Amino acid sequence: MFNNSYKRLETSMNTPNQRANSLEEHWMPFTSNRDYKDNPRLMVKAEGVYYTDHNGNKLIDASSGLFCNPAGHSRKEIKEAVANQLEQLDYVQPFQQGFEGSFELARKISKHTPEDLNRIFFTICGSSAVETAIKTAIAYFKAKGEGHRSHIVGRERGYHGMNIGGISVGGMVANRKTFSNILMPNVHHLRHTHLPENVFVKGEPETGAYLAEDLERIAANIGPENIAACIVEPVAGSTGTLVPPKGYLKKLREICDKHGILLIFDEVITGWGRMGEPFASQAFNVTPDILTMAKAITNGVMPLGAVASREKIYDTILESSPTGAIEFFHGYTYSAIPVSMAAGLAMQNIIEKENLFERSKKMSPYFLDALFSLKDIDGIADIRGYGMMGGIDIKVDERPGKAGYSCFKKLFEAGLSLKATGDCLIVAPPFVCEEHHIDEIIEKLRTGITNYFKTK
Ligand SMILES: Cc1ncc(COP(=O)(O)O)c(C=O)c1O
Repeated sequence: MFNNSYKRLETSMNTPNQRANSLEEHWMPFTSNRDYKDNPRLMVKAEGVYYTDHNGNKLIDASSGLFCNPAGHSRKEIKEAVANQLEQLDYVQPFQQGFEGSFELARKISKHTPEDLNRIFFTICGSSAVETAIKTAIAYFKAKGEGHRSHIVGRERGYHGMNIGGISVGGMVANRKTFSNILMPNVHHLRHTHLPENVFVKGEPETGAYLAEDLERIAANIGPENIAACIVEPVAGSTGTLVPPKGYLKKLREICDKHGILLIFDEVITGWGRMGEPFASQAFNVTPDILTMAKAITNGVMPLGAVASREKIYDTILESSPTGAIEFFHGYTYSAIPVSMAAGLAMQNIIEKENLFERSKKMSPYFLDALFSLKDIDGIADIRGYGMMGGIDIKVDERPGKAGYSCFKKLFEAGLSLKATGDCLIVAPPFVCEEHHIDEIIEKLRTGITNYFKTK
């Protein structure tokens, strides 16, 4: 495609021969490829809380990349750790071999996970962490002699990544409908937790805990002894920060305990400080049995996911196999690879040195107040938020998603980068933001959203 925007792209390249001279070959993920390629948004640099695009414009990062970079971009400590690791040991197969870094990182992670979720399985990303969590639950019950527990309960408007397990237990219609004939069997969904009376509620809504009783109804319907696990995001992230009603998660925990069902928290977004504590589990004082994480674990710099399981789960699976046999037939070529471990360890040091969780918790009230100040803009249908994450719903225009995408483009023009899902704009600033950065994000949100409504 040789259009104007492409030419603009070419002239901005300082070494054109070494760079892409066509946008056609890369089939971009979760992107309107045709529209994008007519008017590309290419980032060429990231530093601190700012990106620079190929036209030289500076954009503030209002969503920490894709909820990945709470420590800001271009962290020297991580770059050096990865470079040093590459010098020393670039790759080792993770099956029946290993290297010290993975044990060190697992130990450090286990210091932050709640209670005895101290057994850490490394994956490649959030999606592979979710598949691993589901398989761990199934393997645990098989090992325990309860192989009849094969049903999994997810929730509407849940996002658990893009693999078959994840889209089966997830509840985002667009992600599921093309693949509806190949989804996992024995999956049920709780209702989502966003009630009409809870629009423009900051933090946990007062009403709605009763929605957790859906799990009791599903259990009554199929037999609680047949359910292996219930998986939820403590705060649904990708569908726009759906904060659980007060008491909801606690009630889910109680129902799981009553029936021997494992509770899985998918903390791929909420983990590593986004809710003001290491994990949402601690922020809401509810401990799952299995917890997934990814993204911020390496400050987004290297692909890495992890699954933390209770010690009894690990012990049961290990003890069900003869000594010398592989106990869990699961793993990836890139599980616990040296470069990801190096980035993860460097991130652990940053978290500790810079009190990142504390920073997130301290900045949250300022951020949420600022976000809710946008309430006066006509055309905003709802604002929600908790910790350092918030969602703004733009009123639907013609068809779902049109307003959100148009707004996203106006925000980009106004110098702001964020994640839009459907008609929801998701704001999740890096924790290293100062108050003036939050002010800049809010000002640009106001400009971009207002411009969208003026020109639509
Ligand atoms: C809660 C949750 N689970 C899983 C995933 C999938 O992670 P990944 O894109 O790294 O596979 C995401 C991604 O946003 C997520 O938000």
